[in-house]
Amino acid sequence: MVTTILPLTLSGATAQVHGKRILGPVDLTLGQAGVTMVIGPNGAGKTTLLRLIHGLQRQSGGTQNWAVGVDEARAAQAFIFQNPVLMRRSVRDNIAYAARLTFGRSSTTDDVVDDWIVRVGLTEQARQPASSLSGGERQKMALARALIRAPQMLILDEPTAHLDGRSTREVEAILLDAVARDTRLVMSTHDMGQARRLGSDIVFLHQGQVFETGPATGFFTHPQTPEATAFLNGDILE
Ligand SMILES: Nc1ncnc2c1ncn2[C@@H]1O[C@H](COP(=O)(O)OP(=O)(O)O)[C@@H](O)[C@H]1O
Ligand SMILES: [Mg+2]
Repeated sequence: MVTTILPLTLSGATAQVHGKRILGPVDLTLGQAGVTMVIGPNGAGKTTLLRLIHGLQRQSGGTQNWAVGVDEARAAQAFIFQNPVLMRRSVRDNIAYAARLTFGRSSTTDDVVDDWIVRVGLTEQARQPASSLSGGERQKMALARALIRAPQMLILDEPTAHLDGRSTREVEAILLDAVARDTRLVMSTHDMGQARRLGSDIVFLHQGQVFETGPATGFFTHPQTPEATAFLNGDILE
């Protein structure tokens, strides 16, 4: 699959709440391939930036340009929240609902649903109510719902923040599989181990601004700003 909606270019992008600027101005380009990890201290603007990209947060200034029209770009993306939204139905119905929106109702769609239930490791839970799932299982269900529609780009806001090590590893394996099938990932995390494991490039945010962006390897070995250096050292940034 070729990512046609990217690159995305933000120029002077800002967001505000009640007249107060909470993000920007941000200048940022997201290229066609890779895994971008958005990192920075609490309140840095990670969630706001991801929501702005997906159109969940209104942009108050600057421009946002996709390689295609914004509606087409948004239709080819999916968003994974820290706490996934569940329908009060079975795990299988939750996944089937997303599949039918894209593929319609057919036996082929049902086969794709069954395939995804296996892929994310929810075979035993498929007939249970989604509300009975653990945090890690909920996130795997959310990933199946998102990935079954074959988005060009998946945006994730701290998807493993509440998960134990094993669930985190399982979620990361699903994400790496998506990357292998050319899904572009943009995700926030406060887990620097995860940023190193998954990231091809880094966006380091602080006080609503992009302080540093570039390849992950260079960022972790040679941060360019005192703020990034302090953050990587585990210092408290204000
Ligand atoms: N709905 C809101 N009302 C007021 N302030 C908000 C709102 N959403 C976010 N903020 C503020 O915007 C800043 C960035 O928040 P956020 O994007 O959630 O940061 P992060 O995800 O990096 O922790 C914070 O200072 C936060 O308090
Ligand atoms: Mg956040």
